Amino acid sequence: MKDLIQIEGVKKIYQSKVGPIHALGPIDLNIGEGEFVSIVGPSGCGKSTLLLLVGGLLEYESGKIHINGKLVNKPQTDIGIVFQTPVLVDWRDVLGNVLLQIEMRGLKKEAYLEKAKNLLRSVGLAEFEKRYPFELSGGMQQRAAFCRALIHDPPLVLMDEPLGALDAITREQLRVDLEQLWLVTKKTVIFVTHSIPESVQLSDRVVVFTPRPGQIAEVIEIDLPRPRTIAVRESSAFQQYVHQLTSIFMNFGILRDTVISTDQKSVVGEE
Ligand SMILES: Nc1ncnc2c1ncn2[C@@H]1O[C@H](COP(=O)(O)OP(=O)(O)OP(=O)(O)O)[C@@H](O)[C@H]1O
Ligand SMILES: [Mg+2]
Repeated sequence: MKDLIQIEGVKKIYQSKVGPIHALGPIDLNIGEGEFVSIVGPSGCGKSTLLLLVGGLLEYESGKIHINGKLVNKPQTDIGIVFQTPVLVDWRDVLGNVLLQIEMRGLKKEAYLEKAKNLLRSVGLAEFEKRYPFELSGGMQQRAAFCRALIHDPPLVLMDEPLGALDAITREQLRVDLEQLWLVTKKTVIFVTHSIPESVQLSDRVVVFTPRPGQIAEVIEIDLPRPRTIAVRESSAFQQYVHQLTSIFMNFGILRDTVISTDQKSVVGEE
């Protein structure tokens, strides 16, 4: 598999009122074309920072990021981004929201109309294209946001906890939909999540970050058949991956079985 993204020795230090905050790195990571890679790690370890760096939306202190052999030194236009909240504009219907991406890029809306409808159909929103965001559930809104991120056919999609704000059952369904969408579109995806089972269900590889400053603690290849049906999710191999990832977090002291006192909490780095 050809690499789409090369991250070499990248480090980010934010300047803040309380002084410099070393948020991330140095990290080295290559991501292949069409690969689905999840980033999991403790809160504040620099996951969102990494996505912003890859998207060219933040400057970095040292190292280099290349996408398709080109140095990232300005905001990237050939990417799709999905955040935790759908960020749809309320005065446009669903189809209008998806096509907004096209209009903002100065492309011809008419040329993308059919594609927008097909994408909406593929996530079960065919009947809702003329509805407004306030008429949709949170899960439906997020599905529309997936379509908006994919309409201009970017090779790379950055997703920052896109399922994090959803209730458990909707989230479960959207994981399945997202895998399906990925299997059809074959985009390269960098997916940030706090959920270990979610990372196993969706990814080709799971990258585990250490507490801040985030560095790569482990990279785990998920060798499970796709689509990751209920049978796959209930398999012992799946559980084994969840267990392996959980153990890494327990070793960091981020997850533990015993109840701890408030004093100890500050020691394990809750911000
Ligand atoms: N603009 C900023 N100025 C100063 N510090 C920042 C800024 N943005 C983020 N940070 C700090 O950098 C660190 C990494 O932040 P980041 O948002 O990347 O973490 P994260 O892993 O995405 O966390 P979470 O899981 O809670 O979303 C945090 O300690 C955060 O407080
Ligand atoms: Mg974040």
